[in-house]
Amino acid sequence: MEEKKIRRIGMLTSGGDAPGMNAAVRAVVRAATAFGIECIGIRRGWQGLINSDFKRMDADSVNHILSRGGTILYTARSDDFLTEEGRQRAVNTCKMLGIDAVVAIGGDGTFRGALELSRLGVPVVGIPATIDNDVGCTHYTIGFDTACNTAIECIDRLRDTMQSHERCSVVEVMGRNAGFLALYVSIAVGATAVLVPERELDFQRDVIERIQNARLAGNTHFMIVVAEGAAHAFEIGKRIHEELGMEPRVTVLGHIQRGGSPNARDRETATRMGYFAVKALHEGRANCIIATQHGDIVDLPIEEALTMKKHLQMERYEVLQAMCNF
Ligand code: F6P
Repeated sequence: MEEKKIRRIGMLTSGGDAPGMNAAVRAVVRAATAFGIECIGIRRGWQGLINSDFKRMDADSVNHILSRGGTILYTARSDDFLTEEGRQRAVNTCKMLGIDAVVAIGGDGTFRGALELSRLGVPVVGIPATIDNDVGCTHYTIGFDTACNTAIECIDRLRDTMQSHERCSVVEVMGRNAGFLALYVSIAVGATAVLVPERELDFQRDVIERIQNARLAGNTHFMIVVAEGAAHAFEIGKRIHEELGMEPRVTVLGHIQRGGSPNARDRETATRMGYFAVKALHEGRANCIIATQHGDIVDLPIEEALTMKKHLQMERYEVLQAMCNF
């Protein structure tokens, strides 16, 4: 199957959505058209491939979606695809629809699914899109920058009211088991402290002393950013109250971070990644993940890509500490 010229591709979005997924969908369809390849949209991720839930797409079907958040293909997390039977049904759908290869847009979980499908003989290409930026093989995942900016805008608003009332704010941001979103956002809003899963929490050192030092330096409001993978914001707020007698206000930003129109970086990256995914297939390279490395777009063999790790740069943590190191 892998040697065959690619005439028709199936494309799906899977896992948590991310701003810029639509831009990637558009780019795949438009690039496919440019290379003379037909494109079929699979709705609702891997589950859609199992259920043969599809729509034919042409260049016009992706008009006006570049600036839209979410994904017009819908997304889902499929338990059925974790089973052999489910994956076999997905392969049968590919046979029935004449799909020569699948482009899967999503995060690590999506790519593990893609690897399984490739082992059953269906060529795949992955495009990384998740607000968590936690895909090991790529410096950047589509949606991260927009999500950071959304969180920053929310926290700037919180700061206005925290400053007026001279309060402490505890804000929980997403990121699953990674602290990329929390750390970038913390630097950008000048947080008093940030808690990330990559650093073991010493509550006294990482929270209490930082608030005390900020107070001694004359501050009367405090911003504590908590990555969801590090701790629960309400628990942190309670402990601050117990230790310092303050009455922190707790905000969980939640899914608001996943919505909204993608910014320039996400539109541009998604468009380039979508194009290169189709180009790779057209040139006979499959079973790979499209990635950014130092700003360039590359493709990496999927098996190897899934073993790669990306560490939170603790130097960024140091930077944050220094900004509030009174
Ligand atoms: O992976 C993206 C993400 O938004 C994570 O940051 C978060 O932990 C998770 O998805 C939330 O998933 P759900 O949409 O199922 O609540």
